[in-house]
Amino acid sequence: MSKNEYVRTEIADSIATVTIDRQAKLNALNPQVVAEVDVAFGALREDRAVRAVILTGAGDKAFVAGADIGVLAEMGPRTGVEVSREGQEVLRRIERFPKPVIAAVGGYALGGGCELAIACHLRVVSDRARFGLPEVGLGIIPGYGGTVRLARLIGLGRAIEMVLTGDMVNAERAAEIGLANLVVPHDELMARTTALASRIARNAPVAVELGLKSIYGAVESTMDHALELESTLFGLLASTRDMREGMAAFLEKRKAVFEGE
Ligand code: COA
Repeated sequence: MSKNEYVRTEIADSIATVTIDRQAKLNALNPQVVAEVDVAFGALREDRAVRAVILTGAGDKAFVAGADIGVLAEMGPRTGVEVSREGQEVLRRIERFPKPVIAAVGGYALGGGCELAIACHLRVVSDRARFGLPEVGLGIIPGYGGTVRLARLIGLGRAIEMVLTGDMVNAERAAEIGLANLVVPHDELMARTTALASRIARNAPVAVELGLKSIYGAVESTMDHALELESTLFGLLASTRDMREGMAAFLEKRKAVFEGE
């Protein structure tokens, strides 16, 4: 296990769990927490033994209750831009992470916490999860990519509703609108998230990585470019040993053993 002041990482059976632990402030993101999250992901990127990452918040109340309002309250226009850019960059690195990242949300995911969860590739939520973007009630707007990513995930109308009202969305509604992939009983959150991560981790790692790359590439590009990217990545996978192994294993009626090469 590696641990900084607010973020710890545990690795078991090729799954890394990154936990934000600042429970006294409902895991709110101050600059140090954001930096520690970034460092934790940086280390996992290079670790070949890790095939999937779970990101969660410590305690029973919150995933992350937002950016730290005490810090935001001090900002001027220039620092405001910097705070936003720094958060955006860290979340962008998570979104572009070459291994699947699953948010396990067992409570409040508000403001920056909601934005952090939607920068992850998948979201498993407990029946106690609450998503929301309450920024307009504080006189600001989401600044960690929330106004950009949410509409892509749940559609323009629903994103506008969440950003303009600041209202919270419960777990059931989150699943209905595509904000959550899976709702599970609170006590099963980590076990069920780990099961999903393990399910993905059994597949060919490079194929999983390029699948993500192709999907995000498509969302961020035109149809023709996206289709071209898909073909290129599809072809690239034919150079991997894992493709030979996956297909041989199928034909030989055995389980594939993937090396990530
Ligand atoms: N920034 C800084 N501190 C925060 C925080 C945030 N985003 N969210 C919670 N906290 C702190 C509270 O100030 C409180 O600290 P204190 O005990 O030193 O006073 C502690 O965390 C516990 O929160 P509290 O409000 O007492 O818990 P609650 O159960 O009554 O309410 C929330 C929970 C999530 C509804 C409430 O904390 C809240 O609205 N938080 C702010 C959410 C928000 O606007 N986020 C977007 C920021 S851009």
